[in-house]
Amino acid sequence: MQEIGVGVVGLGWMGRLHATSYQRVPSRFPELGLRPRLIAAADPVPANRQAAREQFGIEEAVEDIEKLLADPRVDVVSICSPNALHRDLALTAAHAGKPFWIEKPMGVSAAQSREIRDAAASAGVATAVGFNYRHAPAVAHLRSLVAEGRLGRITNVRCWLVADYASSPDGPLTWRYSREQAGNGVIGDLLSHGADLVAHVTGQRVAEVVASTDVFLPERPLPLSAGVGHSGIKVGEERGPVENEDWAAALAHLDGGAHATLEASRVARGHRSDYALEIFGTEGSARWSFTRMNEFEVQLGEGGLEHGYTTVLAGPGHGDFARFQPGPGIPMSFDDLKTIEAAAFLSDVAHGTHRAPSATDGLQAAEVGEAIVRSAAGRAWEAVAPA
Ligand SMILES: NC(=O)c1ccc[n+]([C@@H]2O[C@H](COP(=O)([O-])OP(=O)(O)OC[C@H]3O[C@@H](n4cnc5c(N)ncnc54)[C@H](O)[C@@H]3O)[C@@H](O)[C@H]2O)c1
Repeated sequence: MQEIGVGVVGLGWMGRLHATSYQRVPSRFPELGLRPRLIAAADPVPANRQAAREQFGIEEAVEDIEKLLADPRVDVVSICSPNALHRDLALTAAHAGKPFWIEKPMGVSAAQSREIRDAAASAGVATAVGFNYRHAPAVAHLRSLVAEGRLGRITNVRCWLVADYASSPDGPLTWRYSREQAGNGVIGDLLSHGADLVAHVTGQRVAEVVASTDVFLPERPLPLSAGVGHSGIKVGEERGPVENEDWAAALAHLDGGAHATLEASRVARGHRSDYALEIFGTEGSARWSFTRMNEFEVQLGEGGLEHGYTTVLAGPGHGDFARFQPGPGIPMSFDDLKTIEAAAFLSDVAHGTHRAPSATDGLQAAEVGEAIVRSAAGRAWEAVAPA
């Protein structure tokens, strides 16, 4: 087994999940012959450093990110801090020759994402971006249906990522609502996954968009404590402004000729985490939703016209399912998708494969987001810069 030293920056929701995902790679992907060793975590919050050591078995937890990045035992870096730190961390890792697995959105702007992609390319280091929904076995199967031409010519795609995590006006004004800290709101947070899913499954990138965006809850209470993800955060009486988008919707043209609609919301009451993709072709249709991650629906060929969609439960024949469960219809989890992502990243690092969503994919999604912002401001179609 080849040992790979790992450093994790930011031990919140994603940092904790990266840590456990690395730990699961040897058991789920034994053929890689890789054994990640969790060397160090960096986080400014003492409770997170304590959790790193005691709950996640990370050997050392430090406050100083530079110390982690300079540690010669750290071969690869997970970048799981708030978005505003991504650029500097990624550039430092690239200059030190350390491959990195970075959470989406890669930077707070397309320009930052381009700097990150270019720095990784010139350093020749492998990258991975946290587009985890790609790895759902049902999504992998939809992609192969498209690639094999089973749906015929792809005519149009619907993709929506609507959630209610920010629906309460009394939810804390965390870093996610600051343009400086997070970038463009729900566009970078959720719609980036959609831009990636559409391109990954159809093989066509979003080429131009016309869009509308809005902030529905313009202020929120300031947080009084740290938390993990969206939870465990105490708030006070004082309120501050929400600076970035709660909602965005776009009509799009894909570069292979298909049409698409993309919508994202963080204030969609009733929808917990409804992330869905539906693909229509001349010979059939297929759809998947994260709320029912372990199934998909298909309508194929002339016979399918009689009865519409058929529901299929994911099983060992789909994507990486068999690595997690031996029999069909046994549900996989969100965490499993991250294990697949960790394995893809480490395989790319150690074996020179190209399995993980790359920094170029992260840049492409960022360019879609920025074209949406430009289009909404100018009320006109906007071209999406190629990565
Ligand atoms: N792929 C996905 O589905 C997904 C889901 C959630 C979040 N994310 C992304 O993951 C990243 C982190 O989000 P999260 O939900 O884990 O946030 P979080 O708030 O739970 O965690 C962020 C962590 O970073 C730490 N941090 C803050 N400043 C730091 C610094 N200077 N150095 C080191 N650590 C620092 C915080 O203390 C916290 O522990 C974001 O980029 C977010 O967009 C991706």
